[in-house]
Amino acid sequence: MKVMVVGGGGREHAIIQSLKKNPEITEIVALPGNGGIAADATCVNIGAKDIDGIVEYAKSNAIDFTVVAPDDPLVLGCVDALESIGIPCFGPHANAAIIEGSKVFSKNLMKKYNIPTAAYEVFEDLEAALAYAEACPIPIVVKADGLALGKGVLICETREDVRAALRSIMEDKIFGASGSSVVMEEFLTGPEVSVLAFTDGKVVRPMVSSMDHKRARDNDEGLNTGGMGTVAPNPYYTKEIADTCMKEIFLPTIEAMNAEGRTFKGCLYFGLMLTPNGPKVIEYNCRFGDPETQVVLPLLQSDLFTIMRAVHDGTLADVDVVFGDGAACCVVCASDGYPGKYETGFPMTLPAVTDTEAVYVAGAKLNENGVLVTGGGRVLGAVAVRDTLEEAISAAYEVADSVQFANKYMRRDIGQRALAAKN
Ligand code: AMP
Ligand code: GLY
Repeated sequence: MKVMVVGGGGREHAIIQSLKKNPEITEIVALPGNGGIAADATCVNIGAKDIDGIVEYAKSNAIDFTVVAPDDPLVLGCVDALESIGIPCFGPHANAAIIEGSKVFSKNLMKKYNIPTAAYEVFEDLEAALAYAEACPIPIVVKADGLALGKGVLICETREDVRAALRSIMEDKIFGASGSSVVMEEFLTGPEVSVLAFTDGKVVRPMVSSMDHKRARDNDEGLNTGGMGTVAPNPYYTKEIADTCMKEIFLPTIEAMNAEGRTFKGCLYFGLMLTPNGPKVIEYNCRFGDPETQVVLPLLQSDLFTIMRAVHDGTLADVDVVFGDGAACCVVCASDGYPGKYETGFPMTLPAVTDTEAVYVAGAKLNENGVLVTGGGRVLGAVAVRDTLEEAISAAYEVADSVQFANKYMRRDIGQRALAAKN
């Protein structure tokens, strides 16, 4: 079996290492992959948004199965294009990926099907949005409609902030075309939980819950990033809350997508907030989260490839999706300065790891001499699985501390909030 994975970050590295456990897979190709992934897969320099290039490559290289991991190719119809030439895929079709691709779509879906979420208004016109801003409740959250690299959300504390946010999204188009419509929504409070779920459109199999750390600096200070670390499971997500989410959020979402003629198959990511009025959806993603995947997949005891094929075939009800009882922690080692300006190109030394640890490489390349050098803001995730969260955190930091590159930066408090919640 020759499997192709579209994408090239830490999430894709984690997916590839999990797939490799299946003995039926003889070769894994990553498009484009990265310098670290090259140790586990054949990397081919075709970008994840180059749908024609991906299809052409798959056709001429006898690919048996494809995993499309990032949001862009999913929203652009990569799965539709590959399946139209007979290559089975893991990932939603474009008409279902819209659940992430358009916040207006997802908010309207939740309203129509009574799925708990923040109250909201949609505006396509700047003047109308500005008028609403004069009397809306404060704080308020302003979101660009389309994909914005996870940055299209502005939390506004004053009316002046709201006006500035609307102008920068709708007039200055700081998030590009994704800002032609905005959602203005109620500011919610409570712990955040990420739940990734496998679904074939018939059944939902939630994975172990996790907690992201989005801010760049310790104590959740500094700018929003793509994620500086994760832990799983998330201690706020009790069995009782999980049951509520299944009944009020997960199943209704799958059924709503079916009712709309947009059956979702793949990994559906529920970004939840546990508010005083119960769990509510903050966002849907049409894919595995990054860096959530880096703590979730190491805890998966069942075979990932078997699950992915069952999702494609519509037979998920027949396969096991079992997670271990332990805990996992991922500490992201970034280039100092990220998410602002930073330098890259520094040689990296990665530590040897045991089978309960991993180094998932996100932003790195092989230079002309074949040396692994840094190549991005988030360089890698250092991961450990242990019986307890406390042990997982300290082991992940041991791995992270033994990674070497010149301008390494990491948060020092990944998992501390989760530990405090547990105790
Ligand atoms: P998103 O890109 O939708 O995940 O939003 C980024 C972050 O903004 C979330 O992880 C939350 O911390 C915050 N956020 C988004 N929507 C809300 C909301 N309605 N109330 C409070 N915080 C929010
Ligand atoms: N970690 C958040 C995301 O993948 O969007």
